[in-house]
Amino acid sequence: MAQRCYVVGNWKMHGMRADLSEARAIDRASLRLPKVEVAIAPPATLIATLRETVTQIGVGAQNCHRSEKGAHTGDISAPMLREAGADFVIVGHSERRADHGETNDDVKAKAEAAQAVDLGVILCVGESEEQRDSGEAEEIVARQLADCLPASAQRLSVAYEPIWAIGTGRVPSVQDVGTMHKWLRAVLMDRYGDEGKEIRILYGGSVKGDNAAELLSVPEVGGALVGGASLTADGFVPIIAAAS
Ligand code: G3H
Repeated sequence: MAQRCYVVGNWKMHGMRADLSEARAIDRASLRLPKVEVAIAPPATLIATLRETVTQIGVGAQNCHRSEKGAHTGDISAPMLREAGADFVIVGHSERRADHGETNDDVKAKAEAAQAVDLGVILCVGESEEQRDSGEAEEIVARQLADCLPASAQRLSVAYEPIWAIGTGRVPSVQDVGTMHKWLRAVLMDRYGDEGKEIRILYGGSVKGDNAAELLSVPEVGGALVGGASLTADGFVPIIAAAS
């Protein structure tokens, strides 16, 4: 059976309790758009409350620690996220790599820690502007993905997010998105065989209501990871509708 398109909102470091009214509106709209699997990854402080607030959409986390527990002040483990009500966790976002020095090895370990407690994983990869300009973006991102992949394909999705497209209003051409996603599919099939065919590869980076349909129509694009436009129902629902 073909998988539903997966549209995920990453709220990053945005969202207070008052903003859950937006999540409720997104949840209600999702009921009318059942062909799309929708989820929101709020800041960790809102995971448990969001879980109790919504009925249609998934709830995720934006990061987890690679260990199950231990002396890691300020960190949150995958089992804790699971207990708080998360269905999945985003790992390897470029902002985590840049702000916290996360390596490919960290990303792989975090993905495996999440899978160990049956959390879904959205594993992010993407090139910088200099890497795009070098003409070798596909080779670089394919290698990055290969280095980050967990041993198992269990509940795994991948998000291709060119760093230069995040929050800038710039998006790659549909041809470039298509080429990159084909490369990433090849890496997944090389690693997991036929299971690699089923892994959804999302596109992320300045997805909005007015470009979502075009980006989601690219072969091998199985959904979108949305930042800024996912913070309000007015921004996010048109993207979900475009995926429907
Ligand atoms: O995780 C989401 C991405 O970083 C995209 O963010 O939609 O604000 O460009 P953006």
